Amino acid sequence: MARRTVGIVMNGVTGRMGRNQHLERSILAIRHQGGLDLGDGDVLWPEPLLVGRHAGRLRALATATGIERWTTDLGAALGDPETSVYFDAQVTAARVPALHAAIAAGKHVYCEKPTAETLADALALARAAEAAGVAHGVVQDKLFLPGLLKLRRVIDSGVLGRLLAVRGEFGYWVFEGDWQPAQRPSWNYRSEDGGGIVLDMLPHWRYVLDHLFGGVRALSCTAVTHLRERWDEAGRRYDATAEDAAFATFRLEGDVVATINSSWVTRVYRDDLVVFQVDGTDASAVAGLRDCRVQHRTMTPRPVWNPDVPSPIDFRAGWAEVPDNGAFDNGFKAQWEGFLRHADAVGRGAPGERAAPGGQTAPGARAVPAERAAPGARYPHDLREGAKGVQLAELALASWREGRWLDVPELPA
Ligand SMILES: NC(=O)c1ccc[n+]([C@@H]2O[C@H](COP(=O)([O-])OP(=O)(O)OC[C@H]3O[C@@H](n4cnc5c(N)ncnc54)[C@H](O)[C@@H]3O)[C@@H](O)[C@H]2O)c1
Repeated sequence: MARRTVGIVMNGVTGRMGRNQHLERSILAIRHQGGLDLGDGDVLWPEPLLVGRHAGRLRALATATGIERWTTDLGAALGDPETSVYFDAQVTAARVPALHAAIAAGKHVYCEKPTAETLADALALARAAEAAGVAHGVVQDKLFLPGLLKLRRVIDSGVLGRLLAVRGEFGYWVFEGDWQPAQRPSWNYRSEDGGGIVLDMLPHWRYVLDHLFGGVRALSCTAVTHLRERWDEAGRRYDATAEDAAFATFRLEGDVVATINSSWVTRVYRDDLVVFQVDGTDASAVAGLRDCRVQHRTMTPRPVWNPDVPSPIDFRAGWAEVPDNGAFDNGFKAQWEGFLRHADAVGRGAPGERAAPGGQTAPGARAVPAERAAPGARYPHDLREGAKGVQLAELALASWREGRWLDVPELPA
């Protein structure tokens, strides 16, 4: 068995996502399991090179995680011949120039969503990566949640019949920061710093809708800034200029209607921080982060409106739990493994592994998660798919501003 090292420049790892999900629960977890078994007798060993702006924070992170290499010089990291992959979990506003520099240096690139703040920038990144022939990918973690993987299994089985409607509820209370510290970074609440719930969440909803329920064809969105002042990490009061709740309706292919509410200013009275209900002609399904439940038409009770008496029906009792039927790994780690396999294949010149310039997921075809993609297939979560998320966010903001429905066109090549 040969062990091959893959050097990964990891930028933004002192942040919440970069450290917790990507460095610790993905890359270090892969090392902890002995590397990534490629199935052909070879094992990939990820070797991170941590990059950031503050030497002190990087040194502390390196010490805490046992990673030897770190630098505050991105250019030097990109020039290091020992590294072949660049990963970016910086604040969104800092992502575009760093990704362009990495592509120009010939690195395979993988990054957090949204890939950019505008569709023009997101498309330019996708085109640059395609032209350079490097592997490219964007985090689409919700597809790898156990609850949504089970929901996908249920949909693929056909048991729901024809899909009719989808309802998504996402949100929780993000503390204001004065009387209790906020549990999200303050830039999220300043539009001038790339914040706002539309740019943060609509990219997620794009791939969830496209992959599970049908391609998004049109949308209407309204948003609001409920809380206009908050307190930052240092306890300083600031003006919250970005929207903190968004209410969107989507028309999907196949006449499916989806509504998704996203809010950082709501209190949770549901089983999970995000819950999707999908109703079909033959059955309905409800999925959260880990669980999925189904009610078939044969198990559907007959409710009669009568508020004068307590409900004779225990509505939740009539749903069947979808079994795990397997172990689910951390979704971020599962996607990292898929991307590293793809980048390794591209690096070794495997036929068909390069993203076709202008390649699109065919309308009507549901993209396949990387772990199920046939060898040689285009990476299903690439920068072009990332650009679709930015496109939806941009259209949602325009719909809100203009107060009207907008069509979602195919991405230009
Ligand atoms: N996939 C998901 O579910 C998910 C969830 C939350 C955030 N995100 C995305 O991950 C990225 C990082 O979000 P986060 O919540 O970890 O943010 P964070 O503020 O915790 O971390 C941001 C990182 O970027 C660095 N940085 C670089 N330039 C900066 C600048 N000019 N100002 C401030 N920080 C700068 C910081 O040092 C830090 O390492 C964002 O693009 C966000 O959209 C994704």
